[in-house]
Amino acid sequence: MSESVATRILGIESSCDETGLAVYDTRQGLLGEVLFSQIALHAPYGGVVPELASRDHVRRLPLLLEQLMLQTGGKRPDAVAVTAGPGLIGALLVGVNFARALAFAWDIPVIPVHHLEGHLLAPLLNGVAPFPAVALLVSGGHTMLIEVRGLGDYVLLGETLDDAAGEAFDKAAKMLGLGYPGGPALADLAEGGDPEAFRLPRPLLDRPGMDFSFSGLKTAFRLASMKVPEEDMTQRKNLAASFQQAVVDTLFRKCQRALQHTGLKRLIVAGGVGANRALRSALQTLAAEGVELCIADLAHCTDNAAMIALAGALHPEMAQSASADFPVRARWSLVKEEA
Ligand code: KG4
Ligand code: ZN
Repeated sequence: MSESVATRILGIESSCDETGLAVYDTRQGLLGEVLFSQIALHAPYGGVVPELASRDHVRRLPLLLEQLMLQTGGKRPDAVAVTAGPGLIGALLVGVNFARALAFAWDIPVIPVHHLEGHLLAPLLNGVAPFPAVALLVSGGHTMLIEVRGLGDYVLLGETLDDAAGEAFDKAAKMLGLGYPGGPALADLAEGGDPEAFRLPRPLLDRPGMDFSFSGLKTAFRLASMKVPEEDMTQRKNLAASFQQAVVDTLFRKCQRALQHTGLKRLIVAGGVGANRALRSALQTLAAEGVELCIADLAHCTDNAAMIALAGALHPEMAQSASADFPVRARWSLVKEEA
């Protein structure tokens, strides 16, 4: 796969509760994508049920492929990129085996992709060139600050010591009796609320470093929520807004620190929490400090296959035969620890 030749990559994402397929062309960009969310399937349980997720990926993938092929003209791709981790192991195996079967039938290579690298590269779908940069990776399972020195060269600057930012949103939402997924529900409730109404902690801001911690904030939130009557909508909105502001302030200050520490002037924001409007608008103000902000559009912050197809297109050296034995990993580190 040389760069001068247009290459079509079929991307497959099935690491958690979204089934996604997309076609990315190295010359023309994103040609089409389809996504099925399992929210309705898991909602009655208040969270993702791994076994149900795997079974639904099995059902959806062939149907979505058919839909995508109609959308993109049905041409055989040149390679198939698939999320090989981290994520729910059963869900990952469904996607990877589907990818292997297609690669075998079409006689094309498979490119295993790191899910978090997919998130990190998602802003490139809009054609921006984001390296070198600091990246804030905020998803349901991860909260990391990374120095992106180049493609595949990622150095860890800081990470969460306990809950991930998305997880904190989800848990706070649960305490308020909001459904799954909690992050967007809590953000909706916060709309129009007073972010100053409750004094909630900004963990680790008083200490140097770029690590995060959300467990103290979670406890403070729980104590505050116990005093808010369920029918008091104004107080509920204020509490949600105060929580969101505490998370946003923390993420914002740590990003500023990472930019100062590295001397870089570009910030990539990736992962589901990157879809949070309050966070997006707070980070926009960094432009006044000469920082170029690279955030994927809303649809490509949360899980999707376009970012996986793109990551595959950028890693042609990872292409291997359909029968090659590459690992599928529930846990998989993206970064090198800083020297
Ligand atoms: O990246 P993602 O789609 O999946 C993972 O790889 O984890 O991130 C999902 C996380 C969930 O915790 C979800 O509640 C959170 O991102 N999230 C949000 C918003 N949209 C998604 N959190 C706050 N505000 C949002 N608008
Ligand atoms: Zn994700």
